[in-house]
Amino acid sequence: MRTQVAIVGAGPAGLLLGALLHRAGIDNVVLEQRSAEYVLGRIRAGVLEQVAVDLLRDAGVAARMDALGLPHEGFEMAFGERRLRIDLHALTGKRVVVYGQTEVTRDLMDHRRQSGRVTVYEAEDVQPHDFDGERPHLSYRQGGVGHRVEADFIIGCDGFHGVCRASVPPGALQIFEKVYPFGWLGLLADTPPVSPELIYGHTERGFTLASMRSHERSRYYLQCSLDDKVEQWSDAAFWDELRRRLPADAAERLVTGPSIEKSIAPLRSFVVEPMRFGRLFLAGDAAHIVPPTGAKGLNLAASDVGLLARALADFYVGSTAGIDHYSQRALARIWKAERFSWWFTSLMHRFPDTGGFGLRMQQAEFDYLCGSAAAQTALAENYVGLPMG
Ligand code: FAD
Ligand code: PHB
Repeated sequence: MRTQVAIVGAGPAGLLLGALLHRAGIDNVVLEQRSAEYVLGRIRAGVLEQVAVDLLRDAGVAARMDALGLPHEGFEMAFGERRLRIDLHALTGKRVVVYGQTEVTRDLMDHRRQSGRVTVYEAEDVQPHDFDGERPHLSYRQGGVGHRVEADFIIGCDGFHGVCRASVPPGALQIFEKVYPFGWLGLLADTPPVSPELIYGHTERGFTLASMRSHERSRYYLQCSLDDKVEQWSDAAFWDELRRRLPADAAERLVTGPSIEKSIAPLRSFVVEPMRFGRLFLAGDAAHIVPPTGAKGLNLAASDVGLLARALADFYVGSTAGIDHYSQRALARIWKAERFSWWFTSLMHRFPDTGGFGLRMQQAEFDYLCGSAAAQTALAENYVGLPMG
């Protein structure tokens, strides 16, 4: 098989890139190691920034999001007994849209099927080759048969554990990483959300987040120990713990029900530099991870592929400036989002090892935020995200 752009990974980054390239008339093939059902079964992000919304519209994949997504003009912070509403719209003029990653992925999959571009699911042992040379290509196996995809470019949209970053000689990479000493236990249920807006809570028992997917579907998270196993958490234990961590009025409104999904995610900050090696480019979680507190991961994946789609379109009309500057431009956005996600995570979680001093610093930071319009504006600007530029 021969194509212009070979994409590894059919998560949101790979599929959105495929859709943007298709719109620009650039042929592309997507190889994914899992089945489509498996990819849709992973419950992850819920909050889209304007940049992600705009890119989905540009790609012609926004009809369901525009009909079903919930525009949010603010969110709440609860710190012990104290509350602060961050009025995103008043502070920035912008909103975010609550629309699940599963639905974004489903819309992109449907669009791709309709557009007739090739997606190979359950591709085994995908390997990028010769991306520093003249003939970049991917090899993979399916049903015991070996295949090869030749391309002008290979794009690694294959997530944190993917093969593309791992295929680059280690000396060519610089890695920056911080692993947090806790995880998030998430639960999805068909129950009405406790509040019309998201509530991020810092409590003595640890962080909690009350989020949603619709007016009928809630998504909740609890800070948990890295040693916790999801099997140890019955639904009843989850709901009991959530009730203890929510502000009293929200706890009173809590409606419980059977979980549809429960999973534990570790928290990590991670960046690789650069994001280009010859004709191999990295995008999304393949190149960077943020802790989910700032709701930035999916949005960064979208802005990476937005930059890349533009750069590749320019390449095919004769300009290499876009691909030459891709890494630098993407990393400038990424480090801003890394800083914000690290700050918000540091403020809102209980850290097992920072003692009374750490807690007083968090309280002082929250006091400062409550008393400073400038600090609230900075938080709101970071949360709604940067324009593409
Ligand atoms: P992925 O979604 O990981 O997709 C990569 C794909 O590549 C996968 O389908 C994988 O199967 C495939 N793949 C891997 N290896 C190979 C291989 N060798 N060959 C072929 N295919 C391969 N972000 C937000 O913006 N807002 C939020 O509210 C938010 N909340 C989150 C909550 C949780 C609990 C978690 C865990 C994450 C959250 N995120 C959030 C982050 C967001 O989900 C990720 O940043 C996003 O999924 C990144 O998309 P991606 O396409 O880069 O990677
Ligand atoms: C979610 O709904 O899954 C979600 C929302 C906000 C976050 C993280 C996750 O910061």
